Amino acid sequence: MPESKLSLLTANAIEKFEEKFDTKPDFVVAAPGRVNLIGEHIDYNDGFVLPMAIERYTVIAAKLNPENNSTADIYSIDMDEQVELSVTHPVKREIAHWSNYIAGVIAGMVEDKGFAIPAFQAVTQSNVPIGGGLSSSASLEVAMATLIEAIVGKSIPLADKGKVCQKAEHEFVGVPCGIMDQFSSVLCEADHVLLLDCRDQSFQQIPFADPDIVVLIINSEVKHELSGGEYAQRRTQCEEALQMLEAKSYRDVTLQQVQEKKSTLEETVFNRAHHVVTEIARTVKTAEAMKKNGWQAVGELMYASHASLRDDFEVSCKELDVLVDIASKTDGVIGARMTGGGFGGCIVALVQGNKADSISDTICRQYQTQTGVKPSAFMTRPARGAHIIKTI
Ligand code: GLA
Repeated sequence: MPESKLSLLTANAIEKFEEKFDTKPDFVVAAPGRVNLIGEHIDYNDGFVLPMAIERYTVIAAKLNPENNSTADIYSIDMDEQVELSVTHPVKREIAHWSNYIAGVIAGMVEDKGFAIPAFQAVTQSNVPIGGGLSSSASLEVAMATLIEAIVGKSIPLADKGKVCQKAEHEFVGVPCGIMDQFSSVLCEADHVLLLDCRDQSFQQIPFADPDIVVLIINSEVKHELSGGEYAQRRTQCEEALQMLEAKSYRDVTLQQVQEKKSTLEETVFNRAHHVVTEIARTVKTAEAMKKNGWQAVGELMYASHASLRDDFEVSCKELDVLVDIASKTDGVIGARMTGGGFGGCIVALVQGNKADSISDTICRQYQTQTGVKPSAFMTRPARGAHIIKTI
């Protein structure tokens, strides 16, 4: 089923390419979105995160354009818009625009990695929900970096690719994100979750192929917007707390040290540090529990993570809290929490596979009754990271 969804997306992008440019594409690439099982708002705090790629992708179909020597002509099916970007000196648009993600990646590959990118035509399409906290933007960035590797015929180390994409987000989009989203789209493997150490960027692929456990993602349909300033503010507060704790890294800080400083820290700053230190510990414990199929422990850690994001870090919202609350009372749900940056977007739940459909229906129905908002939901297996589907 999932493979065929990716094939459909691919077939559609190819068909649109032929229609737009009157020729067949020579290259097709795909990069997934991600869902983070636990380890939220700690990638920029030297913590561990535990994401997996989802069966939702951005696909790009492309062909070199020898009649031109300096532009990428890119049509987005989702935006129904075509842009022309320089492949030698891409510039950022001053307004928020989807092409900034792409321009930022081209800039990084040219300026930082020394790529000479030939002119090309491309069509892009994605089924990663936008603004749902599932890294639609990272999937677009990583797909573009993968396309550039394919058309130039040269690849860069995986971590460098993640960093080029992260830099695009910082400099061309204005979101000071951590490394989790881009690294997930680059590094994740099918049937595995990724335990990524954001301090030294080392990682482990942890098998997650238990047929009895299903990952259910429910979108609150409240849009999340990270460039609104709250995200950057959380980063600043975490840095401030670290300074007050007289430490260089949250990995060197114990919960006891945070508690000992409580009286000297402003309440909000204390709470932020408290979330970071406890969330790092929860993530490590979750990875250990998953290795032993200790699902009950995983579930409890997910609920604790949600509570910490809601109360200490204050990045949840009423709708996400309602979803997690309903999930926690639904038979067959092992654990649930908000996922991604927060302020809307999705929850992720681990559920018993044989009850997954009815669990999804129950949660969606009750959520709609309580909030008046119609949510959307889908199930996913851990999917494959970015890859080339077709090349010459
Ligand atoms: C967003 C950012 C990530 C990470 C999460 C929160 O998705 O892009 O780097 O900080 O929020 O965990």
